Amino acid sequence: MNVLVIGGGAREHAIVWKLSSSPQVTKIFTAPGNAGTAMIGTNLDIAATDVEELLSAAQTNHIDLTIVGPETALEVGVVDRFRAEGLTIAGPTQAAARIETSKAFAKNLMVKYNIPTGKAELFTSYEDAMPYAHQAAMPIVVKADGLAAGKGVTVCQTRDEAILALWNAMEDQVFGSSGDQVLVEECLFGQEISVFTFTDGVHLSPLVAACDYKRIGDGDQGPNTGGMGSYSPPRVWDDALSEQVMTEIMAPTVKALAAEGCPFQGVLYGGIILTEDGPKVIEFNARWGDPETQTVLPRLESDLVDSYLASINGAVDKATIEWSEEACVGVVMVSGGYPAEYSTGMSINGLDDMEEDVTVFHAGTRAEDGIPTTSGGRVLTVTAKGQSLEQARERAYNNVSRITYENAQYRSDIAK
Ligand code: AMP
Ligand code: GLY
Repeated sequence: MNVLVIGGGAREHAIVWKLSSSPQVTKIFTAPGNAGTAMIGTNLDIAATDVEELLSAAQTNHIDLTIVGPETALEVGVVDRFRAEGLTIAGPTQAAARIETSKAFAKNLMVKYNIPTGKAELFTSYEDAMPYAHQAAMPIVVKADGLAAGKGVTVCQTRDEAILALWNAMEDQVFGSSGDQVLVEECLFGQEISVFTFTDGVHLSPLVAACDYKRIGDGDQGPNTGGMGSYSPPRVWDDALSEQVMTEIMAPTVKALAAEGCPFQGVLYGGIILTEDGPKVIEFNARWGDPETQTVLPRLESDLVDSYLASINGAVDKATIEWSEEACVGVVMVSGGYPAEYSTGMSINGLDDMEEDVTVFHAGTRAEDGIPTTSGGRVLTVTAKGQSLEQARERAYNNVSRITYENAQYRSDIAK
């Protein structure tokens, strides 16, 4: 098969890396890709949201299977468009992807189908939200309805912060039309985990779980980022919790989406807080997580192509989808200054000097005269497997320290 992967981050490099070990795969194309995906297959200089160009590239290159990485491509309906042209593509339709692209849609669905989640109110104007913000108990969480590159959620400790967050989203429109509607949600307390399943709209594969780190600094200090590291599995994750999350959250959600006329096919991601009252959903995503993918896919023992094909063909119940017992830890290396201003163009050294069971996934990199060079804020995810999280963690950091580029920065407490 010729496979096209849409996206260009470390998540997509991890998908491409895993696909390359499948005996079913001949050629892999990535659009737009990065220096890491270019080492495995062919990069196509097409943006992940340029549906028409992606479609024509898929036809020209005789692509048998397309896999969608980022939510932005799902939001513009890449799956619907490819299917309309008779192409095989893994991922949810635009309507099913609303579970991620509209927090109002997701919240209404969860309320209607009794899926455990925080209480929330939906507002369509700043004036309407104000009285609520003035009387609500703090802390409170303000969420822009639409996609906002991970920046649309503000956990507000004080009333002033809540009012400012509402103003930013609804009056200042810092997230554009994504802030036309805003959810004000009860703050939940507990450990946060990310769980993933392949689903064909009816059946779900056994869950796999990970934890991610969003803040730039050690001890969760400083501003939010696109993700600074992750590990899998979480220490709290066991069969009982997996069963509970499956029966109370993931399976009912897949059933609910089908009942609403938009069956979900692809990878469904539940963002969950383990509260005193049990697991509750803080968000759903319609795709793999970044950086969770980088620590989850190295644990996949079965053929990734089979999982994707099963999600398309209604055969997830018959597919072999197996996760290893091993642990995996991923440390994200970023450009100094990120998530604010940073410089690019630094040559990266040490990538050829990695230990066994260590894989480096590229994000903001490009090859300049064959030399990998930084080209973005998040540069690499260095992942290591081990018999325990402690072993994987030690191995990951040993190898992070072998990689050098000017102003490299990373957290030292991933999986600690
Ligand atoms: P999201 O963009 O939905 O992933 O939210 C970003 C982060 O905000 C999450 O990873 C949580 O840490 C936090 N968050 C979102 N919703 C809640 C909530 N209801 N209670 C507490 N924290 C939340
Ligand atoms: N790890 C958070 C996300 O992928 O949205």
